[in-house]
Amino acid sequence: MAATLFTPLRLRGMELKNRIVVSPMCQYSSEDGFATDWHLVHLGSRAVGGADLILFEATAVSPEGRITPDDLGLWKDEHIAGLQRITSFITAQGAVPGVQLAHAGRKASVSSPWKGGEPVAAAAGGWQPVAPSALPFRPTDPKPLALDTAGLREVRDDFRAATKRALMAGFKVIEIHAAHGYLLHEFFSPLSNQRTDAYGGSFENRIRLLLEVTAAVRKSWPDEYPVFVRISATDWVDGGWTIDDSVALTRELKNHGVDLIDASTGGNVSDAKIPAGPGYQVEFAERIRQETGMPTGSVGIITTAEQAEEILASEQADLVLLAREFLRDPYFPLHAAQTLDADLAWPVQYERAKRQ
Ligand SMILES: Cc1cc2nc3c(=O)[nH]c(=O)nc-3n(C[C@H](O)[C@H](O)[C@H](O)COP(=O)(O)O)c2cc1C
Repeated sequence: MAATLFTPLRLRGMELKNRIVVSPMCQYSSEDGFATDWHLVHLGSRAVGGADLILFEATAVSPEGRITPDDLGLWKDEHIAGLQRITSFITAQGAVPGVQLAHAGRKASVSSPWKGGEPVAAAAGGWQPVAPSALPFRPTDPKPLALDTAGLREVRDDFRAATKRALMAGFKVIEIHAAHGYLLHEFFSPLSNQRTDAYGGSFENRIRLLLEVTAAVRKSWPDEYPVFVRISATDWVDGGWTIDDSVALTRELKNHGVDLIDASTGGNVSDAKIPAGPGYQVEFAERIRQETGMPTGSVGIITTAEQAEEILASEQADLVLLAREFLRDPYFPLHAAQTLDADLAWPVQYERAKRQ
């Protein structure tokens, strides 16, 4: 039987040729938000390696929305040309470029992991992080500023403007980052949102900003191109966001024209106990898919062709997203096709190496 991993998936007017996605991965290799040669080679290699959908890293919709001063951005028109160079290369390999649009919320203004990952003061090039409420992520972090009405409007406007720039830059999929304790997740999790206005309190209020952002993105994005939302399907903490909430949220997102839920978890509670292991987040993609009929992507410690195939063949998810395995092996899809005895075209330049 043909491997499901190498069957196409149709989403709106777009057909993905296979089910293997490069999961967004921050490279902390930008200055003032600009893409560099690093991005071209890093992302380009994965297109050469046979991935069909390549999601660019968390790309900030505003300077304050960056995690670190080294993040990629789409907050000004000048960013478009550098990104377009990369999307053109990816498209020329027959792959699909997508971008994860992000706002880091209270987790903003820290240094890159290899520079320590600690808060960066304004004097050292940092900025004031914003959040639903003035609650820091870690007790030792500076307090974020609670967004006011004008601030909320700016967030929606920034996502809308970045979406329009993404189209000009040649992207064909948008993923809204609403996971891992960044701004949109901070709003929907009761642990980080203590607002008493229309954006806090009830479930409907806490998901309001994400729905408004989604509506703004969907309206600015062509009908034939898909919109994904990455969520953290659970906070892994009593009293936090749950998988039942995620199912209810997905139903709302479906009504807002979202085409796929990328089901990750965690990131909003610094000391949460997460039972990480092979495929530990698959169950969340599966439940959301089963209970809502929404296509889902599964991510998290998926490292082998057989494991990826099993997730898809047993209909637990529609796509698999791989992050660290793609750092170990940019040619994962070419190798997976050999393992599963599927036919996947190699770049013509490499064909002489296809059979040993
Ligand atoms: C270097 C690195 C950077 C990451 N950056 C992002 C990011 O920009 N956006 C995001 O949603 N997740 C990010 N993640 C999380 C991955 O997309 C993925 O969800 C996680 O690593 C689990 O998948 P894996 O076990 O295949 O690595 C990052 C992970 C790594 C290793």
